[in-house]
Amino acid sequence: MTTNIFNADDEHILKAAEIIQKGGLVAFPTETVYGLGANVYNSKAVASIFEAKGRPRFNPLISHIADFDFLKTYALTDERVTALAKRFWPGPLTFVLKRLDENPALDLACAGLKTVTVRMPSHPVALELIKKSGVPIVAPSANKSQTISPTTADHVFESLGDKVDMILDGGACTVGVESTIIDLTGKDVVLLRAGGTALETLEDFLGEKVLISNGNPDMPSSPGQMLKHYAPSHEFRINVLIPEPDEFYIGFGQMDCDLNLSACGDLKEAAANLFSFMRKADHQTTHGKIAMAPIPNIGLGLAINDRIKRASYKK
Ligand code: TXA
Ligand code: MG
Repeated sequence: MTTNIFNADDEHILKAAEIIQKGGLVAFPTETVYGLGANVYNSKAVASIFEAKGRPRFNPLISHIADFDFLKTYALTDERVTALAKRFWPGPLTFVLKRLDENPALDLACAGLKTVTVRMPSHPVALELIKKSGVPIVAPSANKSQTISPTTADHVFESLGDKVDMILDGGACTVGVESTIIDLTGKDVVLLRAGGTALETLEDFLGEKVLISNGNPDMPSSPGQMLKHYAPSHEFRINVLIPEPDEFYIGFGQMDCDLNLSACGDLKEAAANLFSFMRKADHQTTHGKIAMAPIPNIGLGLAINDRIKRASYKK
C-alpha cells in the first residue's frame, strides 16, 4: 500500500514546508508527540485541522516557533517568560501568554481568546520545518479527537490516513507525552496541563509554587474564559432565518446578509471566517444587535455551533 509517510530528510522537510506555506496539513514529529501542523496565519488551513481531527469545538492551538526573538512581536513577554524560555526551550513546555499580534488570521488558532499559546519543540525535524516554513506552525496532536496521541508516523497514518497531505517520519517520539502547559498571563504561574516538563523542576527553577488549575486538564477553564471574553458586546441571536431590521446579519449559504461566512455553504470556509466576522460584527456601528443564520450541525458545523451557542449565551 502506498502511504503519505515520508522519511524526514532535507528534501522532504523542504517539500513539507512548501505544503505548509500553501495552506496544506503536515504531520511532523516533536519530542513529545506527533503534531498536525498548519500555517498559523492561514485560517482555512487551521480550520482543516479541526475538520481532520473531528474536533467538536475550537480549542486554542499551540503555535510552534523556532526563534525566541519572534515571540516579542507575537505575544507579551517579560523577564519571567524570557527566563523560562532560556531554561526550558527548546523543550516540552508551553506558555499561555497575552496576545500581541492582532492579525485577524490568528483568531481561529487562538479560538478567539486574547491569549496565544506557544512552544519551541526540541525535535530537530520540527525546528527545521518551522524555519523553512517561515511562519509559526500551529499543531495539536496528530490524532482523531478523543483518541490516544501518536508517537510514531504509523500511529498518525492509522488515525488520520490521507486527511494529511504529508506525514514526516522522524522516528518514535522520545518524551511520548504532551508538553506541560503553564499560564503566564497573571501574577501566579498556573499549570493547565501536566506533561513532559515536571512540575517540581518548574517550581525549583521559579522558586515559587505553581498553582494547579482545577477542572478538566484537557479543557482548562477555557469554556468559561471564552464565555466571558468572547461573547460579543452586542446582543447576539443564533439560528435566525429572518433578521430584525436592527440586527447585523451574518449569513451562511446563498442569502441576503451583511457578511457571509460562506456563500457556497462550505463549513471549512465558515469556520475560518467565524471569529474575525464576529469581531467585525461587534465593531460595526450601523446595527444595534447581531444575528446569525442557522449553521448545519455536521462536520465543522458542530464546532461552529458550540462556539456561537456560548457566544449567544444569556445569563
Ligand atoms: O506536546 C504538545 O503540546 C503537542 C505537540 C504536537 O506540540 N501538542 C498538543 O496540542 O498537545 P493539543 O492541541 O492536542 O493540546 C493543547 C491543549 C488543548 O487542550 C487546549 O485546550 C489547551 O492546550 N490550550 C491551548 N491554549 C490555551 C489557552 N489559551 N487557555 C487554555 N487552554 C489552552
Ligand atoms: Mg491532543
